[in-house]
Amino acid sequence: MEYNIALLRGDGIGGEIVDGAVSVLERVGEKFGHTFKFTPYLIGGCAIDATGEPLPEETVKGCLASDSVLLGAVGGPKWDSQPGDKRPEKALLGIRSALGLYTNLRPAKLYPALRSASPLKDEIVGDGFDLMIVRELTGGIYFGDRGYREGKYGQEAYDTEAYSVTEIERIGRVAFESAMKRRKRLCSIDKANVLESSRLWRTTMHRLAQEYPEVEYSDMFVDNAAMQLVRDPKQFDVIVTSNMFGDILSDEASQITGSIGMLASASLGDSNRGMYEPIHGSAPDIAGQDKANPIATILSAAMMLRFSFGLSDEADAIERAVDKVLDEGFRTADITGGNCEAIGCREMTERIVNAI
Ligand code: IPM
Ligand code: MG
Repeated sequence: MEYNIALLRGDGIGGEIVDGAVSVLERVGEKFGHTFKFTPYLIGGCAIDATGEPLPEETVKGCLASDSVLLGAVGGPKWDSQPGDKRPEKALLGIRSALGLYTNLRPAKLYPALRSASPLKDEIVGDGFDLMIVRELTGGIYFGDRGYREGKYGQEAYDTEAYSVTEIERIGRVAFESAMKRRKRLCSIDKANVLESSRLWRTTMHRLAQEYPEVEYSDMFVDNAAMQLVRDPKQFDVIVTSNMFGDILSDEASQITGSIGMLASASLGDSNRGMYEPIHGSAPDIAGQDKANPIATILSAAMMLRFSFGLSDEADAIERAVDKVLDEGFRTADITGGNCEAIGCREMTERIVNAI
């Protein structure tokens, strides 16, 4: 089969890590007899520099015409003083919304080989944890009404958290379905003791729970969830939560696995086309120095094969290759845990390619 993949390298380390994932996909193509065609498009700061816009029309059209999208990362200090709607990050929200990608799957599991990189104690981690965060991606405060106005203390800025029953139900269904395919436990995280939008979230989730009697369902307030993730991460299987809570909790979940450089994500909507990206950012401090960890992006490419193209053997082959290279003891700087010498992004990529 032939697959057309839109490449959004973005800024900072984005180019290096996307190139790593492209080499891995090319190897998979050779080995399993597929053709992956890659077309690059600009997004984020590099797009601002070239066109004045963080998300050029051509990029949106190119992504809509592709079978799937692979993204590196956007943003950097160079563009920090841009007004809100011209920031590189705005492009990321724009492309998620333009492609209708309301579901964000962020798996966080501890690799046994990286045990020493996790900041959690042995008695907490035990034999490891494996959880899946299902984050709502095109609603909530990221997309709500915002602006400036005169308030009680003079000028103020505001952002609005709003969720409709339709939005909550569609992300809820994805979460219940993914719990059914895993250990059948779902925890919905909200702030229903304070926020009206969270109370609607909670009653809607409870209604859905009736349709999934096999799933052991629970609710948790987000402040408690932030604590429980470091106190006892093993209690979680699937977590479903809003856009902003999911953003925050997924960074926390990544750190307890040892490194944010390891976590992949899939953004999905109602079609097979998805967008796949590491959950980390553009790391401008190490860009261009061959120090980045390409594994999160390589694992994101594996998620693309699995979720968008239905190529699960091929996805397994990538995941096994990553396991093998880690088991052999090779580490990029972010995951050495101080135990061994680090290898660079290119060498890590090459080793994974050769292990497929
Ligand atoms: C993420 C990032 C983005 C988000 C930023 C860069 C807009 O933190 O994908 O988690 O907040 O969604
Ligand atoms: Mg984030």
